[in-house]
Amino acid sequence: MKLNIALLAGDGIGPEVIDQAVKVCDAIATKFNHEINWRPALTGAAAIDAVGDPYPDDTHEICETSDAVLFGAIGHPKYDNDPSAKVRPEQGLLRMRQKLGLFANVRPTFTFPSLIDKSPLKKERIEGTDLVFLRELTGGIYFGKRGREDNGDTAYDTCTYTRKEVQRLAKKGFEMAQKRSKRLCCVDKANVLETSRLWRETVQAMEKDYPDVEVSYEFVDAVAMRLVQWPSEYDVLITENLFGDILTDEASVISGSMGLMPSASIGESIALYEPIHGSYPQAAGKDIANPLATVLSAAMLFDGFNLSDEAEAIRKVVNESLSEGIVTEDLAEGEKAYKTSEVGDWLASHI
Ligand code: IPM
Ligand code: MG
Repeated sequence: MKLNIALLAGDGIGPEVIDQAVKVCDAIATKFNHEINWRPALTGAAAIDAVGDPYPDDTHEICETSDAVLFGAIGHPKYDNDPSAKVRPEQGLLRMRQKLGLFANVRPTFTFPSLIDKSPLKKERIEGTDLVFLRELTGGIYFGKRGREDNGDTAYDTCTYTRKEVQRLAKKGFEMAQKRSKRLCCVDKANVLETSRLWRETVQAMEKDYPDVEVSYEFVDAVAMRLVQWPSEYDVLITENLFGDILTDEASVISGSMGLMPSASIGESIALYEPIHGSYPQAAGKDIANPLATVLSAAMLFDGFNLSDEAEAIRKVVNESLSEGIVTEDLAEGEKAYKTSEVGDWLASHI
């Protein structure tokens, strides 16, 4: 297969972790006879510095005309502490999600047998966790009307959802549940929010089309608690944008490190693959960041083209590296810590 992949390394540790994913994908391409044409493009603070826009038109053009996008991370501390900044790296990410129509963010959470003791949660609680969040990604409070009134002393952000937006996300959720253990949980705050009541009503109306899927409805605050108490009770969870942002960071703790969890953002056509962690500026340029979340995102990319042997080969070599202790410092716990680039080299050579 010939694949054109847009490569958006972004900020902070983005370029370092992306480099390792590229090594791994190139090794897979050699082994399975594929041809990958990488198409680098600017995004985030790096793009603001270069051209004054965190998601330049040139970058959008490259993404739109590629078969998929592999994304690192964006964000820079110089913007985090400056609430008055007019242009922010995150705006680029949001605009990219919207312009590419990436309305569903797929974030799996699973455990690695060799890391089960690294989680801050008790082993017996998390063993066998295998759940996936489908977070709505182009609506809700992230994209609603916001502003200031009252000479700047009052601020507001509004949350809006349409039935169509809920339906297209829920459809992906039902279909994913059908392929897994047929349980779907709709996470909302329907005891308070009107948008949540629309979510619940819409999902309830769709239940009859998926008689094999068992649907539950839970409030987001209760899920926040039960997720870390009994994660294996969940299979597929669907939720709106902000709830999904928060719960998926929480869920990543189950696996033992935020540096491990991959994600895919999907829509009608193009898909984007990215680690769920951020740009981790403190580690930028030090060759210490964990590249596995990005490498596992690349595995999801191969899944997206129905190349499941390729995806499995990546997951297998990642598991091997973990059991052999070829890990970065976040997982080393007093044992030898490998550099980001060394982990990437090891993975590529073992493929
Ligand atoms: C994420 C991130 C982003 C989000 C930020 C960087 C805007 O936290 O992908 O989860 O809130 O969606
Ligand atoms: Mg987040």
